[in-house]
Amino acid sequence: MDTSSRILCKALQNKIMSAEQAAALIPSGVNVGMSGFTGSGYPKSVPGALAKRIAEVNREGQKFRIGVWTGASTAPELDGVLAEADGVEMRLPYQSDPTCRRRINEGRMEYIDIHLSHVAQFVWFGFLGKLDIALVEVAGILEDGRLIPSSSVGNNKTWLEQADKVILEVNSWQSPLLEGMHDIYYGTQLPPHRMPIPLVHPEDRIGEKYLHCDPEKIIAVVETHAPDRNSPFSAPDENSMLIAGHILEFFEHEVKKGRLPKNLLPLQSGVGNIANAVMAGLNNGPFDNLTAYTEVLQDGMLDMLRSGKLAMASATAFSLSDMALEELNRNLAFYRDKIILRPQEISNHPEVIRRLGVIAMNGMIEADIYGHVNSTHVMGSSIMNGIGGSGDFARNAYISIFMTPSQAKNGKISCIVPIASHVDHTEHDVQVIVTEQGLADLRGLSPNQRAKVIIENCAHPDFRPALRDYHRRAYEGSMGRHTPHLLDEALSWHQRYLKEGQMLQDLQEVFQM
Ligand code: COA
Repeated sequence: MDTSSRILCKALQNKIMSAEQAAALIPSGVNVGMSGFTGSGYPKSVPGALAKRIAEVNREGQKFRIGVWTGASTAPELDGVLAEADGVEMRLPYQSDPTCRRRINEGRMEYIDIHLSHVAQFVWFGFLGKLDIALVEVAGILEDGRLIPSSSVGNNKTWLEQADKVILEVNSWQSPLLEGMHDIYYGTQLPPHRMPIPLVHPEDRIGEKYLHCDPEKIIAVVETHAPDRNSPFSAPDENSMLIAGHILEFFEHEVKKGRLPKNLLPLQSGVGNIANAVMAGLNNGPFDNLTAYTEVLQDGMLDMLRSGKLAMASATAFSLSDMALEELNRNLAFYRDKIILRPQEISNHPEVIRRLGVIAMNGMIEADIYGHVNSTHVMGSSIMNGIGGSGDFARNAYISIFMTPSQAKNGKISCIVPIASHVDHTEHDVQVIVTEQGLADLRGLSPNQRAKVIIENCAHPDFRPALRDYHRRAYEGSMGRHTPHLLDEALSWHQRYLKEGQMLQDLQEVFQM
Protein backbone atom coordinates (compact mmCIF):
# COMPACT_ATOMS: atom_id res chain seq x y z
CA MET A 1 0.00 0.00 0.00
CA ASP A 2 1.34 3.37 -1.02
CA THR A 3 1.01 5.40 2.18
CA SER A 4 1.40 8.77 0.48
CA SER A 5 -1.83 8.14 -1.48
CA ARG A 6 -3.61 8.49 1.86
CA ILE A 7 -2.36 12.05 2.45
CA LEU A 8 -3.81 14.11 -0.38
CA CYS A 9 -3.68 17.49 1.34
CA LYS A 10 -0.58 19.20 -0.01
CA ALA A 11 -0.32 21.64 2.90
CA LEU A 12 0.16 18.72 5.28
CA GLN A 13 2.77 16.84 3.32
CA ASN A 14 5.63 18.86 4.79
CA LYS A 15 4.43 17.90 8.26
CA ILE A 16 5.06 14.22 7.68
CA MET A 17 7.65 12.94 10.14
CA SER A 18 8.68 9.86 12.10
CA ALA A 19 6.89 8.67 15.23
CA GLU A 20 9.98 9.61 17.28
CA GLN A 21 9.96 13.17 15.91
CA ALA A 22 6.24 13.51 16.61
CA ALA A 23 6.62 12.06 20.12
CA ALA A 24 9.31 14.67 20.82
CA LEU A 25 6.61 17.34 20.38
CA ILE A 26 4.70 16.04 23.41
CA PRO A 27 6.08 17.55 26.64
CA SER A 28 5.62 16.28 30.19
CA GLY A 29 2.55 17.50 32.04
CA VAL A 30 0.18 17.80 29.08
CA ASN A 31 -3.18 16.14 28.57
CA VAL A 32 -3.30 14.14 25.35
CA GLY A 33 -6.62 13.11 23.79
CA MET A 34 -5.90 9.89 21.91
CA SER A 35 -8.11 8.02 19.50
CA GLY A 36 -8.98 4.42 20.22
CA PHE A 37 -11.94 2.41 21.34
CA THR A 38 -11.71 -1.25 22.42
CA GLY A 39 -8.67 -2.04 20.34
CA SER A 40 -9.68 -0.25 17.17
CA GLY A 41 -8.55 3.03 15.66
CA TYR A 42 -5.91 3.82 18.31
CA PRO A 43 -2.59 5.45 17.30
CA LYS A 44 -0.13 2.64 16.67
CA SER A 45 3.32 4.22 16.71
CA VAL A 46 3.59 7.59 18.51
CA PRO A 47 2.56 6.19 21.94
CA GLY A 48 5.37 3.61 21.72
CA ALA A 49 7.94 6.24 20.76
CA LEU A 50 6.66 8.50 23.53
CA ALA A 51 6.83 5.66 26.08
CA LYS A 52 10.47 5.09 25.14
CA ARG A 53 11.27 8.75 25.70
CA ILE A 54 9.34 8.81 28.96
CA ALA A 55 11.17 5.73 30.22
CA GLU A 56 14.54 7.35 29.43
CA VAL A 57 13.64 10.58 31.22
CA ASN A 58 12.21 8.70 34.20
CA ARG A 59 15.35 6.57 34.40
CA GLU A 60 17.36 9.76 34.76
CA GLY A 61 15.36 10.49 37.88
CA GLN A 62 13.03 13.14 36.44
CA LYS A 63 9.28 12.67 36.31
CA PHE A 64 7.72 12.64 32.84
CA ARG A 65 4.01 11.98 32.92
CA ILE A 66 1.01 12.91 30.83
CA GLY A 67 -2.75 12.70 31.11
CA VAL A 68 -4.17 10.09 28.71
CA TRP A 69 -7.75 10.60 27.55
CA THR A 70 -9.27 8.23 25.01
CA GLY A 71 -12.60 6.98 23.71
CA ALA A 72 -12.45 3.83 25.83
CA SER A 73 -9.94 0.99 26.22
CA THR A 74 -7.15 0.73 23.66
CA ALA A 75 -4.38 -1.83 23.25
CA PRO A 76 -0.97 -2.81 24.66
CA GLU A 77 0.75 -0.47 22.15
CA LEU A 78 -0.93 2.48 23.85
CA ASP A 79 -2.14 1.78 27.38
CA GLY A 80 0.32 -1.04 27.99
CA VAL A 81 3.53 0.75 26.94
CA LEU A 82 2.67 4.08 28.59
CA ALA A 83 1.71 2.38 31.87
CA GLU A 84 4.84 0.22 31.74
CA ALA A 85 6.97 3.36 31.33
CA ASP A 86 5.17 4.92 34.33
CA GLY A 87 4.18 7.75 32.02
CA VAL A 88 0.52 8.20 32.90
CA GLU A 89 -0.50 10.68 35.58
CA MET A 90 -4.23 10.51 34.93
CA ARG A 91 -6.13 8.01 32.81
CA LEU A 92 -9.71 8.50 31.70
CA PRO A 93 -12.45 7.50 30.84
CA TYR A 94 -12.04 3.67 30.58
CA GLN A 95 -9.30 1.06 30.44
CA SER A 96 -9.04 -2.70 30.36
CA ASP A 97 -5.29 -3.12 30.18
CA PRO A 98 -3.65 -5.45 32.75
CA THR A 99 -0.67 -3.13 33.41
CA CYS A 100 -2.90 -0.06 33.76
CA ARG A 101 -5.26 -1.98 36.00
CA ARG A 102 -2.40 -3.15 38.21
CA ARG A 103 -0.98 0.36 38.55
CA ILE A 104 -4.37 1.85 39.31
CA ASN A 105 -5.10 -0.78 41.94
CA GLU A 106 -1.66 -0.29 43.48
CA GLY A 107 -2.42 3.42 43.79
CA ARG A 108 0.32 4.38 41.33
CA MET A 109 -1.89 5.77 38.57
CA GLU A 110 -4.89 8.08 38.90
CA TYR A 111 -7.97 6.97 37.01
CA ILE A 112 -11.42 8.46 36.49
CA ASP A 113 -14.05 6.06 35.30
CA ILE A 114 -16.64 8.16 33.41
CA HIS A 115 -19.90 7.42 31.59
CA LEU A 116 -18.71 7.35 27.99
CA SER A 117 -21.44 9.73 26.82
CA HIS A 118 -20.26 12.28 29.38
CA VAL A 119 -16.65 12.59 28.26
CA ALA A 120 -17.01 14.90 25.27
CA GLN A 121 -19.39 17.27 27.01
CA PHE A 122 -17.26 17.35 30.16
CA VAL A 123 -14.33 18.47 28.02
CA TRP A 124 -16.48 21.13 26.31
CA PHE A 125 -17.75 22.28 29.72
CA GLY A 126 -14.14 22.57 30.93
CA PHE A 127 -14.75 20.07 33.75
CA LEU A 128 -11.61 18.01 33.06
CA GLY A 129 -9.11 20.79 32.49
CA LYS A 130 -7.30 21.72 29.31
CA LEU A 131 -6.82 19.31 26.46
CA ASP A 132 -3.41 20.20 25.07
CA ILE A 133 -2.74 17.73 22.28
CA ALA A 134 -4.86 15.41 20.14
CA LEU A 135 -3.22 12.23 18.83
CA VAL A 136 -5.64 10.67 16.41
CA GLU A 137 -5.45 7.79 13.94
CA VAL A 138 -7.24 8.43 10.64
CA ALA A 139 -7.63 6.31 7.52
CA GLY A 140 -6.70 9.16 5.18
CA ILE A 141 -6.60 12.91 4.56
CA LEU A 142 -8.52 14.45 1.67
CA GLU A 143 -7.15 17.23 -0.57
CA ASP A 144 -9.15 19.83 1.33
CA GLY A 145 -7.83 18.61 4.69
CA ARG A 146 -10.92 16.71 5.83
CA LEU A 147 -10.06 13.48 7.64
CA ILE A 148 -11.34 9.98 6.86
CA PRO A 149 -12.08 8.50 10.28
CA SER A 150 -10.59 5.14 11.19
CA SER A 151 -12.18 1.99 12.64
CA SER A 152 -13.43 3.83 15.71
CA VAL A 153 -14.75 7.35 16.18
CA GLY A 154 -14.92 7.65 19.97
CA ASN A 155 -14.15 11.20 21.11
CA ASN A 156 -12.04 12.16 18.09
CA LYS A 157 -14.30 15.00 16.99
CA THR A 158 -13.96 16.63 20.40
CA TRP A 159 -10.21 15.97 20.65
CA LEU A 160 -9.61 17.58 17.22
CA GLU A 161 -11.74 20.60 18.10
CA GLN A 162 -10.61 21.13 21.67
CA ALA A 163 -6.87 20.44 21.54
CA ASP A 164 -4.39 23.25 20.86
CA LYS A 165 -2.22 20.98 18.75
CA VAL A 166 -2.93 17.89 16.70
CA ILE A 167 -0.79 14.91 15.70
CA LEU A 168 -2.30 12.60 13.11
CA GLU A 169 -1.36 9.02 12.42
CA VAL A 170 -2.48 8.00 8.93
CA ASN A 171 -2.82 4.22 8.96
CA SER A 172 -2.77 2.70 5.48
CA TRP A 173 -3.60 -0.72 6.95
CA GLN A 174 -7.17 0.45 7.51
CA SER A 175 -9.42 -0.40 4.58
CA PRO A 176 -10.02 2.48 2.14
CA LEU A 177 -13.64 1.30 2.11
CA LEU A 178 -14.09 2.77 5.58
CA GLU A 179 -14.57 6.08 3.77
CA GLY A 180 -18.27 6.93 3.89
CA MET A 181 -19.20 4.60 6.75
CA HIS A 182 -19.04 7.29 9.44
CA ASP A 183 -21.64 9.80 10.54
CA ILE A 184 -20.01 12.67 12.41
CA TYR A 185 -22.62 14.95 13.95
CA TYR A 186 -21.49 18.57 14.18
CA GLY A 187 -24.78 19.91 15.56
CA THR A 188 -24.19 19.52 19.30
CA GLN A 189 -24.41 22.76 21.23
CA LEU A 190 -23.73 23.63 24.82
CA PRO A 191 -26.55 24.39 27.26
CA PRO A 192 -28.59 26.57 27.26
CA HIS A 193 -28.52 26.44 23.45
CA ARG A 194 -28.88 22.67 22.98
CA MET A 195 -31.32 21.43 20.38
CA PRO A 196 -32.81 17.94 19.98
CA ILE A 197 -30.57 15.43 18.23
CA PRO A 198 -32.43 14.65 14.99
CA LEU A 199 -31.88 10.89 15.11
CA VAL A 200 -35.12 8.89 15.23
CA HIS A 201 -34.12 5.54 13.69
CA PRO A 202 -30.85 3.64 14.22
CA GLU A 203 -30.15 3.89 10.47
CA ASP A 204 -30.53 7.69 10.33
CA ARG A 205 -27.55 9.68 9.13
CA ILE A 206 -27.50 13.12 10.70
CA GLY A 207 -23.95 14.29 10.12
CA GLU A 208 -20.95 14.21 7.82
CA LYS A 209 -18.71 11.44 6.57
CA TYR A 210 -15.50 13.19 7.60
CA LEU A 211 -13.83 14.76 10.60
CA HIS A 212 -12.72 18.38 10.38
CA CYS A 213 -9.51 19.80 11.76
CA ASP A 214 -7.99 23.25 11.48
CA PRO A 215 -4.78 22.54 9.45
CA GLU A 216 -2.97 25.28 11.41
CA LYS A 217 -3.21 23.11 14.52
CA ILE A 218 -1.68 20.04 12.91
CA ILE A 219 1.95 19.82 14.07
CA ALA A 220 2.79 16.35 12.78
CA VAL A 221 1.55 13.66 10.44
CA VAL A 222 2.91 10.15 10.95
CA GLU A 223 2.40 7.36 8.45
CA THR A 224 1.70 3.89 9.81
CA HIS A 225 0.71 0.54 8.43
CA ALA A 226 -0.36 -1.54 11.42
CA PRO A 227 -3.38 -3.66 12.26
CA ASP A 228 -5.90 -2.98 14.98
CA ARG A 229 -5.44 -5.32 17.86
CA ASN A 230 -8.60 -6.83 19.17
CA SER A 231 -9.13 -9.48 21.78
CA PRO A 232 -10.08 -13.00 20.85
CA PHE A 233 -13.46 -14.29 21.97
CA SER A 234 -13.67 -17.78 23.32
CA ALA A 235 -16.34 -20.02 21.84
CA PRO A 236 -19.49 -19.60 23.97
CA ASP A 237 -19.26 -21.88 27.01
CA GLU A 238 -22.21 -23.71 28.56
CA ASN A 239 -23.04 -20.89 30.99
CA SER A 240 -23.03 -18.24 28.26
CA MET A 241 -25.31 -20.39 26.11
CA LEU A 242 -27.71 -20.92 29.02
CA ILE A 243 -27.77 -17.15 29.67
CA ALA A 244 -28.42 -16.51 25.98
CA GLY A 245 -31.24 -19.08 26.06
CA HIS A 246 -32.93 -17.36 29.03
CA ILE A 247 -32.74 -13.99 27.27
CA LEU A 248 -34.19 -15.36 24.05
CA GLU A 249 -37.05 -16.98 25.94
CA PHE A 250 -37.67 -13.66 27.69
CA PHE A 251 -37.80 -11.82 24.35
CA GLU A 252 -40.28 -14.38 22.96
CA HIS A 253 -42.43 -13.92 26.05
CA GLU A 254 -42.32 -10.12 25.70
CA VAL A 255 -43.33 -10.34 22.03
CA LYS A 256 -46.25 -12.62 22.94
CA LYS A 257 -47.33 -10.15 25.60
CA GLY A 258 -47.20 -7.34 23.04
CA ARG A 259 -44.51 -5.46 24.94
CA LEU A 260 -41.93 -5.87 22.18
CA PRO A 261 -42.45 -5.85 18.40
CA LYS A 262 -41.63 -9.00 16.43
CA ASN A 263 -38.29 -7.61 15.32
CA LEU A 264 -37.65 -6.45 18.91
CA LEU A 265 -36.20 -2.96 19.43
CA PRO A 266 -32.66 -1.75 18.66
CA LEU A 267 -30.16 -3.92 20.53
CA GLN A 268 -27.24 -2.76 22.60
CA SER A 269 -24.79 -5.41 23.58
CA GLY A 270 -21.91 -4.88 26.01
CA VAL A 271 -18.42 -6.24 25.80
CA GLY A 272 -17.35 -9.79 26.59
CA ASN A 273 -18.01 -13.40 25.83
CA ILE A 274 -21.51 -13.60 27.26
CA ALA A 275 -22.68 -10.67 25.14
CA ASN A 276 -21.21 -12.40 22.14
CA ALA A 277 -23.00 -15.65 23.02
CA VAL A 278 -26.33 -13.78 23.23
CA MET A 279 -25.72 -12.51 19.70
CA ALA A 280 -24.97 -16.07 18.58
CA GLY A 281 -28.26 -17.13 20.19
CA LEU A 282 -30.15 -14.37 18.39
CA ASN A 283 -28.51 -15.38 15.14
CA ASN A 284 -30.11 -18.81 15.47
CA GLY A 285 -33.31 -17.47 17.03
CA PRO A 286 -36.75 -16.64 15.66
CA PHE A 287 -36.36 -12.85 15.33
CA ASP A 288 -35.69 -11.22 11.96
CA ASN A 289 -34.96 -7.77 10.64
CA LEU A 290 -33.26 -6.73 13.87
CA THR A 291 -31.31 -3.51 14.34
CA ALA A 292 -28.55 -2.50 16.73
CA TYR A 293 -27.91 0.87 18.33
CA THR A 294 -24.88 0.01 20.34
CA GLU A 295 -21.42 1.10 21.40
CA VAL A 296 -19.19 -1.58 19.93
CA LEU A 297 -19.77 -4.02 17.15
CA GLN A 298 -18.56 -7.47 18.22
CA ASP A 299 -18.10 -10.73 16.30
CA GLY A 300 -21.64 -11.87 17.08
CA MET A 301 -23.20 -8.83 15.42
CA LEU A 302 -21.01 -9.26 12.37
CA ASP A 303 -22.30 -12.82 12.04
CA MET A 304 -25.85 -11.52 12.30
CA LEU A 305 -25.26 -8.90 9.61
CA ARG A 306 -23.86 -11.63 7.37
CA SER A 307 -26.80 -13.96 7.96
CA GLY A 308 -29.27 -11.12 7.41
CA LYS A 309 -30.82 -11.43 10.89
CA LEU A 310 -29.50 -7.97 11.64
CA ALA A 311 -30.52 -5.38 9.07
CA MET A 312 -28.05 -2.72 10.23
CA ALA A 313 -25.89 -1.70 13.17
CA SER A 314 -24.95 1.70 14.54
CA ALA A 315 -21.91 1.86 16.84
CA THR A 316 -18.87 3.97 17.62
CA ALA A 317 -16.24 1.25 17.07
CA PHE A 318 -15.48 -2.26 15.99
CA SER A 319 -14.44 -4.65 18.73
CA LEU A 320 -13.63 -7.79 16.80
CA SER A 321 -11.45 -10.83 17.15
CA ASP A 322 -8.59 -11.10 14.65
CA MET A 323 -10.56 -13.60 12.60
CA ALA A 324 -13.68 -11.43 12.45
CA LEU A 325 -11.59 -8.38 11.64
CA GLU A 326 -10.02 -10.18 8.74
CA GLU A 327 -13.48 -11.22 7.52
CA LEU A 328 -14.77 -7.65 7.91
CA ASN A 329 -11.93 -6.15 5.88
CA ARG A 330 -12.19 -8.84 3.20
CA ASN A 331 -15.91 -8.22 2.78
CA LEU A 332 -16.21 -4.56 3.70
CA ALA A 333 -18.01 -3.85 0.41
CA PHE A 334 -20.85 -6.06 1.73
CA TYR A 335 -20.89 -4.61 5.25
CA ARG A 336 -20.27 -0.94 4.62
CA ASP A 337 -23.84 0.18 3.94
CA LYS A 338 -25.11 -1.84 6.91
CA ILE A 339 -22.86 -0.23 9.53
CA ILE A 340 -22.70 3.38 10.73
CA LEU A 341 -19.90 4.56 13.02
CA ARG A 342 -20.69 7.66 15.11
CA PRO A 343 -19.02 9.74 17.82
CA GLN A 344 -19.53 8.10 21.20
CA GLU A 345 -21.44 11.11 22.48
CA ILE A 346 -24.11 10.12 19.89
CA SER A 347 -23.83 6.31 20.01
CA ASN A 348 -24.28 6.52 23.79
CA HIS A 349 -26.52 9.57 23.97
CA PRO A 350 -29.20 9.22 26.68
CA GLU A 351 -31.73 11.23 24.65
CA VAL A 352 -31.34 8.99 21.61
CA ILE A 353 -31.24 5.74 23.59
CA ARG A 354 -34.46 6.68 25.37
CA ARG A 355 -36.15 7.72 22.11
CA LEU A 356 -35.19 4.56 20.23
CA GLY A 357 -36.21 2.26 23.09
CA VAL A 358 -32.94 0.38 23.09
CA ILE A 359 -32.74 -3.08 24.70
CA ALA A 360 -29.57 -2.89 26.80
CA MET A 361 -27.61 -6.04 27.66
CA ASN A 362 -24.50 -5.66 29.76
CA GLY A 363 -22.18 -7.81 31.83
CA MET A 364 -21.63 -7.29 35.54
CA ILE A 365 -19.38 -8.37 38.39
CA GLU A 366 -22.18 -8.85 40.91
CA ALA A 367 -25.75 -7.92 41.76
CA ASP A 368 -27.27 -7.75 45.18
CA ILE A 369 -30.54 -9.30 46.22
CA TYR A 370 -32.36 -5.98 45.68
CA GLY A 371 -31.04 -5.44 42.16
CA HIS A 372 -28.16 -2.99 42.61
CA VAL A 373 -25.41 -3.84 40.14
CA ASN A 374 -21.65 -3.62 40.43
CA SER A 375 -20.00 -3.55 36.99
CA THR A 376 -16.58 -2.31 37.95
CA HIS A 377 -15.06 -3.22 41.31
CA VAL A 378 -13.99 -6.61 42.60
CA MET A 379 -14.47 -6.80 46.37
CA GLY A 380 -15.62 -3.19 46.29
CA SER A 381 -12.14 -1.76 45.87
CA SER A 382 -10.22 -3.15 42.88
CA ILE A 383 -11.19 -1.71 39.53
CA MET A 384 -11.70 -4.22 36.73
CA ASN A 385 -12.34 -2.04 33.67
CA GLY A 386 -14.82 0.77 34.23
CA ILE A 387 -18.49 1.62 33.80
CA GLY A 388 -17.95 2.27 30.08
CA GLY A 389 -21.25 2.83 28.33
CA SER A 390 -23.25 0.50 30.56
CA GLY A 391 -24.72 3.39 32.55
CA ASP A 392 -25.59 5.40 29.44
CA PHE A 393 -27.63 2.49 28.17
CA ALA A 394 -28.98 1.00 31.41
CA ARG A 395 -30.40 4.29 32.69
CA ASN A 396 -32.18 5.08 29.43
CA ALA A 397 -33.04 1.72 27.92
CA TYR A 398 -36.49 0.34 27.15
CA ILE A 399 -35.39 -2.73 29.08
CA SER A 400 -32.08 -2.90 30.92
CA ILE A 401 -30.67 -6.41 31.29
CA PHE A 402 -27.57 -7.36 33.31
CA MET A 403 -25.98 -10.77 32.97
CA THR A 404 -23.26 -12.83 34.66
CA PRO A 405 -22.50 -16.41 35.53
CA SER A 406 -23.95 -17.02 39.01
CA GLN A 407 -20.50 -17.76 40.43
CA ALA A 408 -16.95 -16.60 39.83
CA LYS A 409 -13.59 -18.17 40.57
CA ASN A 410 -14.59 -21.80 40.23
CA GLY A 411 -17.58 -21.46 42.47
CA LYS A 412 -15.77 -19.73 45.32
CA ILE A 413 -17.60 -16.43 44.88
CA SER A 414 -21.31 -15.85 44.45
CA CYS A 415 -22.14 -13.13 41.93
CA ILE A 416 -25.43 -12.63 43.80
CA VAL A 417 -24.63 -11.04 47.14
CA PRO A 418 -26.54 -9.50 50.06
CA ILE A 419 -25.23 -6.00 49.35
CA ALA A 420 -23.24 -4.90 46.30
CA SER A 421 -19.72 -3.98 47.36
CA HIS A 422 -19.82 -1.08 44.87
CA VAL A 423 -22.84 0.25 42.99
CA ASP A 424 -22.70 1.39 39.36
CA HIS A 425 -26.35 0.80 38.50
CA THR A 426 -28.98 1.25 41.15
CA GLU A 427 -32.13 -0.85 41.56
CA HIS A 428 -33.94 1.88 39.58
CA ASP A 429 -31.96 1.19 36.41
CA VAL A 430 -31.99 -2.60 36.43
CA GLN A 431 -35.05 -4.37 35.09
CA VAL A 432 -33.74 -7.86 34.41
CA ILE A 433 -30.92 -9.95 35.90
CA VAL A 434 -29.83 -13.17 34.21
CA THR A 435 -27.42 -15.92 35.18
CA GLU A 436 -27.09 -19.44 33.82
CA GLN A 437 -29.54 -20.43 36.60
CA GLY A 438 -32.35 -18.31 35.21
CA LEU A 439 -33.79 -14.86 34.70
CA ALA A 440 -35.23 -12.45 37.27
CA ASP A 441 -37.75 -10.03 35.80
CA LEU A 442 -37.73 -7.24 38.36
CA ARG A 443 -40.27 -4.97 36.72
CA GLY A 444 -43.09 -4.02 39.03
CA LEU A 445 -41.55 -5.72 42.07
CA SER A 446 -40.81 -4.19 45.47
CA PRO A 447 -37.36 -4.72 47.03
CA ASN A 448 -38.48 -7.76 49.09
CA GLN A 449 -40.23 -9.30 46.10
CA ARG A 450 -37.10 -8.68 44.03
CA ALA A 451 -34.91 -10.35 46.63
CA LYS A 452 -36.97 -13.56 46.43
CA VAL A 453 -36.92 -13.68 42.62
CA ILE A 454 -33.20 -12.89 42.37
CA ILE A 455 -32.23 -15.51 44.97
CA GLU A 456 -34.50 -18.24 43.59
CA ASN A 457 -33.95 -17.58 39.87
CA CYS A 458 -30.38 -16.31 39.63
CA ALA A 459 -28.24 -17.36 42.61
CA HIS A 460 -26.33 -20.62 42.39
CA PRO A 461 -28.01 -23.37 44.48
CA ASP A 462 -24.87 -23.59 46.65
CA PHE A 463 -25.38 -20.00 47.78
CA ARG A 464 -29.17 -19.87 47.94
CA PRO A 465 -29.54 -21.10 51.55
CA ALA A 466 -27.14 -18.42 52.86
CA LEU A 467 -28.84 -15.69 50.84
CA ARG A 468 -32.35 -16.79 51.89
CA ASP A 469 -31.23 -16.95 55.50
CA TYR A 470 -29.71 -13.47 55.26
CA HIS A 471 -32.84 -11.98 53.73
CA ARG A 472 -35.11 -13.61 56.30
CA ARG A 473 -33.02 -12.44 59.24
CA ALA A 474 -32.60 -8.97 57.78
CA TYR A 475 -36.37 -8.72 57.34
CA GLU A 476 -36.86 -9.71 60.96
CA GLY A 477 -34.00 -7.76 62.44
CA SER A 478 -33.38 -4.54 60.52
CA MET A 479 -34.77 -1.19 61.48
CA GLY A 480 -36.77 -0.75 58.29
CA ARG A 481 -38.45 -3.47 56.29
CA HIS A 482 -38.55 -1.73 52.94
CA THR A 483 -35.01 -2.76 51.94
CA PRO A 484 -33.94 -4.82 54.94
CA HIS A 485 -30.24 -5.05 55.78
CA LEU A 486 -28.02 -6.18 58.60
CA LEU A 487 -25.21 -3.92 57.47
CA ASP A 488 -22.31 -5.41 59.44
CA GLU A 489 -23.20 -8.87 58.25
CA ALA A 490 -23.96 -7.83 54.65
CA LEU A 491 -20.59 -6.19 54.24
CA SER A 492 -18.72 -9.05 55.91
CA TRP A 493 -20.06 -11.34 53.15
CA HIS A 494 -17.27 -10.04 50.92
CA GLN A 495 -14.75 -9.68 53.73
CA ARG A 496 -15.13 -13.35 54.61
CA TYR A 497 -13.54 -14.36 51.34
CA LEU A 498 -10.58 -12.08 51.84
CA LYS A 499 -9.79 -13.94 55.05
CA GLU A 500 -9.57 -17.28 53.27
CA GLY A 501 -6.04 -17.85 52.03
CA GLN A 502 -7.06 -19.59 48.81
CA MET A 503 -9.46 -16.84 47.82
CA LEU A 504 -6.90 -14.12 48.37
CA GLN A 505 -4.52 -16.00 46.12
CA ASP A 506 -7.16 -16.09 43.35
CA LEU A 507 -7.71 -12.36 43.65
CA GLN A 508 -4.00 -11.72 43.46
CA GLU A 509 -3.92 -13.65 40.22
CA VAL A 510 -6.71 -11.50 38.75
CA PHE A 511 -4.71 -8.39 39.38
CA GLN A 512 -1.31 -10.00 38.84
CA MET A 513 -0.08 -8.59 42.12
N1 COA B 1 -15.97 -11.40 42.12
C1 COA B 1 -14.67 -11.50 41.77
N2 COA B 1 -14.26 -11.63 40.49
C2 COA B 1 -15.22 -11.67 39.55
C3 COA B 1 -16.58 -11.59 39.85
C4 COA B 1 -16.95 -11.46 41.20
N3 COA B 1 -18.22 -11.36 41.56
N4 COA B 1 -17.28 -11.67 38.70
C5 COA B 1 -16.40 -11.78 37.69
N5 COA B 1 -15.15 -11.79 38.22
C6 COA B 1 -13.91 -11.91 37.47
C7 COA B 1 -13.92 -13.16 36.63
O1 COA B 1 -13.50 -14.28 37.37
C8 COA B 1 -12.95 -12.78 35.52
O2 COA B 1 -11.65 -12.90 36.02
P1 COA B 1 -10.48 -13.53 35.12
O3 COA B 1 -10.27 -12.51 34.03
O4 COA B 1 -9.34 -13.66 36.05
O5 COA B 1 -11.03 -14.82 34.62
C9 COA B 1 -13.23 -11.30 35.31
O6 COA B 1 -13.86 -10.84 36.53
C10 COA B 1 -14.14 -11.01 34.12
O7 COA B 1 -15.30 -11.76 34.27
P2 COA B 1 -15.97 -12.61 33.09
O8 COA B 1 -16.89 -13.59 33.75
O9 COA B 1 -14.93 -13.11 32.16
O10 COA B 1 -16.93 -11.55 32.45
P3 COA B 1 -16.92 -10.57 31.21
O11 COA B 1 -15.80 -10.74 30.27
O12 COA B 1 -18.31 -10.70 30.71
O13 COA B 1 -16.75 -9.17 31.94
C11 COA B 1 -17.30 -7.27 33.24
C12 COA B 1 -17.60 -8.75 32.95
C13 COA B 1 -18.29 -6.79 34.28
C14 COA B 1 -15.87 -7.13 33.79
C15 COA B 1 -17.45 -6.50 31.88
O14 COA B 1 -18.73 -6.73 31.36
C16 COA B 1 -17.26 -5.00 32.08
O15 COA B 1 -16.14 -4.51 32.14
N6 COA B 1 -18.39 -4.25 32.19
C17 COA B 1 -18.38 -2.82 32.43
C18 COA B 1 -18.33 -2.02 31.17
C19 COA B 1 -19.49 -2.32 30.26
O16 COA B 1 -20.51 -2.85 30.66
N7 COA B 1 -19.32 -1.98 29.00
C20 COA B 1 -20.29 -2.20 27.98
C21 COA B 1 -21.13 -1.02 27.78
S1 COA B 1 -21.49 -0.70 26.11
